[in-house]
Amino acid sequence: MGVEETIRALEDIGFGEIYLLTKKARKKPQSSKETVKVDQYKGKILQDHFMSFKDCTKCPLHRSRSQVVFGDGNPDSPVVFVGEAPGEEEDAQGRPFVGRAGRYLNRKILEVMGMRREDVYITNVCKCRPPENRKPTAQEIRSCFPYLRKEIEIIKPKVICCLGSTAGEGVIGKNMPITKVRGKVFTYPYDPKIKVFLTYHPAYILRNPRAEGEFVEDLKKLKDLIA
Ligand code: URA
Repeated sequence: MGVEETIRALEDIGFGEIYLLTKKARKKPQSSKETVKVDQYKGKILQDHFMSFKDCTKCPLHRSRSQVVFGDGNPDSPVVFVGEAPGEEEDAQGRPFVGRAGRYLNRKILEVMGMRREDVYITNVCKCRPPENRKPTAQEIRSCFPYLRKEIEIIKPKVICCLGSTAGEGVIGKNMPITKVRGKVFTYPYDPKIKVFLTYHPAYILRNPRAEGEFVEDLKKLKDLIA
């Protein structure tokens, strides 16, 4: 009995819809396609994660923010850059590091590491803008940290690069002077396979251009760490 006859016979005895799995459909996907699938999968999980806290009211920052600013970039990046908290432009646009410090950071990542902004992943320890761009309090950092922790758990980068001491405090859990710990490698307390690297916040370099050489030195080291 041929395929068509078989289908007709099955329909006669009451089968409504019959699907045939062709050889092509059964074939295992190529590895490159599998990678794309993983990307989309991670992206979807991140999106669901963001949606779960878009209306967060756990700390007082929700009263003055325009919106929660989620992380952004390539979820398969080997490096996650972590800043302090959104500023005015980030709060308005809903994306991290889109202001002057962000443009400077993008330029340096490209010049020194050869990576475009869209190749890497960028986020903050606090997802809401503090009023007058003040530093987030230890309490605000603590209450926001589970969101960053989950982001990192989904992305699983090789290295978390903390930009400035507030980011370092959020990720490592203790306050260390950035001038002492910059360029150093730590272990991420929640996953020993992930390294934590600390450097200056780009806004600090814009205010103190003499420190740019050290910042560049750190980014070169970061490039080697993710190679
Ligand atoms: N500074 C930060 O720490 N984060 C931003 O998103 C923008 C500026």
